[in-house]
Amino acid sequence: MVDTKKTGKNTKANQMWGGQFSVAPAELLAKINVSVGFDKQLYRQDISGSIAHAKMLAKQKIITEADAKAIIEGLKAILADIEAGDFVFQDALEDVHMNIESALKERIGEAAGRLHTARSRNDQVATDFRLYVRDALDAFDGAFMALQRTLLKRAEEHVGTLMPGFTHLQVAQPVTLGHHLLAYVEMIGRDRDRIRDARKRMNESPLGAAALAGTSFPIDRDYTAKELGFAAPMANSLDAVASRDFALEFLSVAAISAVHLSRFAEEMVNWSSAQFGFIRFSDAWSTGSSIMPQKRNPDAAELVRGKSGRMFGNLMSLLTTMKGLPLAYNKDMQEDKEPVFDSVENLMVCVQAMTGMVLDFSVNKEEMEESASEAYANATDLADWLVRELKLPFRDAHHITAKLVKLASGKGKKLEELSLKEMQSIEPKILKSIFSVLPTIDSVKSRTSFGGTAPENVRKAIAEAKKRYLK
Ligand code: ARG
Repeated sequence: MVDTKKTGKNTKANQMWGGQFSVAPAELLAKINVSVGFDKQLYRQDISGSIAHAKMLAKQKIITEADAKAIIEGLKAILADIEAGDFVFQDALEDVHMNIESALKERIGEAAGRLHTARSRNDQVATDFRLYVRDALDAFDGAFMALQRTLLKRAEEHVGTLMPGFTHLQVAQPVTLGHHLLAYVEMIGRDRDRIRDARKRMNESPLGAAALAGTSFPIDRDYTAKELGFAAPMANSLDAVASRDFALEFLSVAAISAVHLSRFAEEMVNWSSAQFGFIRFSDAWSTGSSIMPQKRNPDAAELVRGKSGRMFGNLMSLLTTMKGLPLAYNKDMQEDKEPVFDSVENLMVCVQAMTGMVLDFSVNKEEMEESASEAYANATDLADWLVRELKLPFRDAHHITAKLVKLASGKGKKLEELSLKEMQSIEPKILKSIFSVLPTIDSVKSRTSFGGTAPENVRKAIAEAKKRYLK
């Protein structure tokens, strides 16, 4: 049985906020309350926020220059200790903010206590977390650009490599591999737009909102906003401490990107199978089986596909936490961090692994081209010829083509293997020139409409994409 009244071993009240308390928190309260195990990841942002705040307090003569100097030097020394692995975060101090403040007190004494003037942990954590998410958005913009660069490089190599295009995962019309890869360059381009858009919207400073209502001290919120690289201070103190839509936007962007990555990952899984045989991963990107010696498994692609699940879960988790919370700060909001940390960590490894895989795979051109010419992928080209040359309405041409496909498949032939006579048995007006549109390469070359798969288009599209995305 759990003794729910049992208090912590340390019988002293919490040293940061325990002034009115005579005993330590119940062990279970301490257990549910503690966040330093994960929010210690915010140490860098917490120290930057505190340095900006201390500078501002001194500039506004709210604390002395000497105190500010001691605080800033102390914080810098703590940062160095943490980065060197010489800092012990303590659960008893609850969170990253109180761990750092307490260390500062040990280091510089009384002046440390002045740092928290005109500030609350509520605006402190909102500031730290915004800085963290902003850094993450910037890192993703770069990581996605690296993936685009790699896709463009592979697309350039395969401007003219024929492959089947699919709908319903049934062979539809031939396309080029270069064109297929460019589809992902575009999707990722929009992911990057969303990242930049979210960054712009979230780049305002909560610092100075204090607990919820602002402060009576003559602070300068424009100054701290500028110091921290924010475009402006947030306009409403309640909103500043209570809102987490910036984190939700990050999680949405991450979830949408994860959808894109999972689709390409699924294609890689298919393409590397014996049934497709389109691509092969080198040993560096394949795993073996402990029982089946012949296996080369695409584990990384499967994990990119699989990790999308937790990315959606993280978004749902924070949406649900935030739903219905009254203004302003509520402790529920401490639950905002783990989903974000998890999506940052996992999406980053997914993007990087995708970049590695795209660079790695070798292409079996013969197999791709062969399957592009199978399953009547050129049926639309035949129908288009009937429309163009015989002036048939497309619906009639579709009907005639379907009959020709049926005839050919009954004979186990491709469309181009039918004789002119056999074709004319279905539509007497068909001419020999129909055969010129049936080879896969001619089908692909004919698709010159803007955004289409013709190699000359793809070459232009690559040049355009480089200009747009690789700045
Ligand atoms: N660890 C807390 C969080 O992440 C910091 C803010 C706590 N504020 C408070 N009033 N208890 O949300």
